Amino acid sequence: SLSISPEVPIRYMNYHGMFVPDSYQLIADSIENFQIRDDDVWVCSFPKAGTTWTQEMVWNIGNNFDPDTAKTPLPIKFPFVEFTGTTTTGWISLNKADSTFPDHMSKSVEYATNLPSPRFLKTHLPFNLLPKQLRTREKKSKMIYVARNPKDVCISYYHHYKLLEGYCSTFENFSKLFLGDKVYYAPFWDHVISYWDNKGNNDILFLTYENMKKDLGSVIQQTAAFLNKSPMSPEQLNRLKEHLSFDSMKKNPAANYENAAESINASKIFGENFKAEGVFIRKGEYGQWKSFMSPELIERFDEWTKLKLKNHRDLFDRMI
Ligand code: A3P
Repeated sequence: SLSISPEVPIRYMNYHGMFVPDSYQLIADSIENFQIRDDDVWVCSFPKAGTTWTQEMVWNIGNNFDPDTAKTPLPIKFPFVEFTGTTTTGWISLNKADSTFPDHMSKSVEYATNLPSPRFLKTHLPFNLLPKQLRTREKKSKMIYVARNPKDVCISYYHHYKLLEGYCSTFENFSKLFLGDKVYYAPFWDHVISYWDNKGNNDILFLTYENMKKDLGSVIQQTAAFLNKSPMSPEQLNRLKEHLSFDSMKKNPAANYENAAESINASKIFGENFKAEGVFIRKGEYGQWKSFMSPELIERFDEWTKLKLKNHRDLFDRMI
C-alpha cells in the first residue's frame, strides 16, 4: 500500500499492473463478473483524454439527438461503472456515511447492472482488466476508446487532482508521478496500447481528442456508422456540433460536473486547508504543453514515449 504525497490521504496499490486506490479490491470481483449485454455501448479511456466530451457525443448519437432528452445528467444516463473503487471520490462514498453524492454513485456497479437497455457505460479500466465478458467478446457490445496526447493529459490531470483529489503540490512534482506511473489508471501507454492492440474485431472504435477538435463532424459521422446509425443530416449534424462545442459543454449542467468538488465534500476529506481549485471543463485545447512544459520536461516525455512505443510505430504516427 502506497501514498502518493503527504497531502493525499489515500492509500494506493498496484492491482495487476494498474495504479488504483486500495479500495479497488472491494469491487474487483463484481467488475470481473459484470454481465454484458449485446446492445451495451462503452466509452473507455485513460482519465482526461476527453471522456466526458466523448460520452456526450456517443449518447446523443445513440439517442438520435434531441436537446430535451440530452438534459439528463451524464452520471445518470452514462454511469462510470467502477466509480466506487477507483477514485478517491469513490473511496469516500464507500466509506463515509455523510457523502452528499447521489446514492447510486456509491453503488455504481449495481446501478449499471440495473439500467434498462440499451446501456451507455463509462470505464477507465485498461482492456485487460475489463469485465470478463467484455474482454472475451462474449457479446456484441461496442467500445469507443478515446486517446489524447499524454503531455496534454498530464496537464489536464494535474488540474483535475487540484480540483478533486486533494493535490497541493507543483506541476513539476505531478509530472514525476505521471511519468512514474503513480497516478490512477497508470501506466498511461500500456492503457492506450491495450485497446490499440485489441481493436481488430470491429467492436472497438479508436478515436483521438485531437481529431475531435480538428474535425468533430467527421468523428460524429464515423461514430454514427460504428453504432449502425444512419448518417446525420447537415442540420442535425450542425445542431449536435453546437451542443458539443466547448462553450456549450462548459455551460451545460448535465455534463460540466460544476458541483463535483462540493459533492465530495473535499475539505472534509483532505482537511480544511484544501481548497478545490479550478473547473472540470477547463480549457479544451490540444498542444497546451508547448507553453506549459519546460524544454527539459518535454524531452523527458519524448524519451519516455519513444521507449514505450518502440514496437508501436503505427500508434506513434496516429497520436504523436
Ligand atoms: P483540459 O483540462 O485540457 O481543458 P475527461 O472528461 O476525460 O476527464 O477529460 C477532460 C478534458 O476534456 C478537459 O481538458 C476538458 O476541458 C476537456 N473537454 C471537455 N469537454 C470538451 C469539449 N466540448 N471540447 C473540448 N474539450 C473538452
